[in-house]
Amino acid sequence: MAIETTLLIVKPDGVQRGLAGRILTRFEDKGLQLVGMKLMTIPRALAERHYEAHKERKFYPGLVRFMTSSPVLVFAVRGVDAIAICRKLMGATFGPNAEPGTIRGDFGASRSYNLIHGSDSVESATREIGLFFAEGEVQTWQPAIQSWIYDASEEL
Ligand code: RTP
Ligand code: MG
Repeated sequence: MAIETTLLIVKPDGVQRGLAGRILTRFEDKGLQLVGMKLMTIPRALAERHYEAHKERKFYPGLVRFMTSSPVLVFAVRGVDAIAICRKLMGATFGPNAEPGTIRGDFGASRSYNLIHGSDSVESATREIGLFFAEGEVQTWQPAIQSWIYDASEEL
């Protein structure tokens, strides 16, 4: 069991559709701890770096255009196995394939306008948090409820 911090982005379609609050709530409801948040319009160079693993893919130029087209809600959450938990809450990449109950399954019908980004590994999370947050912007705080979210007898 590892405590992880992961980066999430409500993409431009999510903010435009007024779903940012409901999407954020999914992560809070699961028991993940909110440790950083900002509303921003992503500069082109930052979007290009964020998705640089996909540079050679056909969808890359359109993805960068989409991600920079309108404001996004960037946030970071922390918890045991947070990366895998967040990816599960997000659902499969393409809305039509995503299971009901997941964010993309409940709100998304598009392939590329799929509402939410989440880091896919510890390495990506560290890299992406470094891209979107300056030193000190991600908080460390003690949630009073933590021992009720995790079995209090388990070592964390
Ligand atoms: P994300 O990185 O945004 O969290 O999404 P993901 O891991 O589920 O999917 P990934 O393969 O990393 O793709 C990044 C984003 O590119 C867009 N995409 N469009 N039209 C297409 O064929 C296509 N393929 C990917 C999606 O917005 C996807 O989330
Ligand atoms: Mg990805």
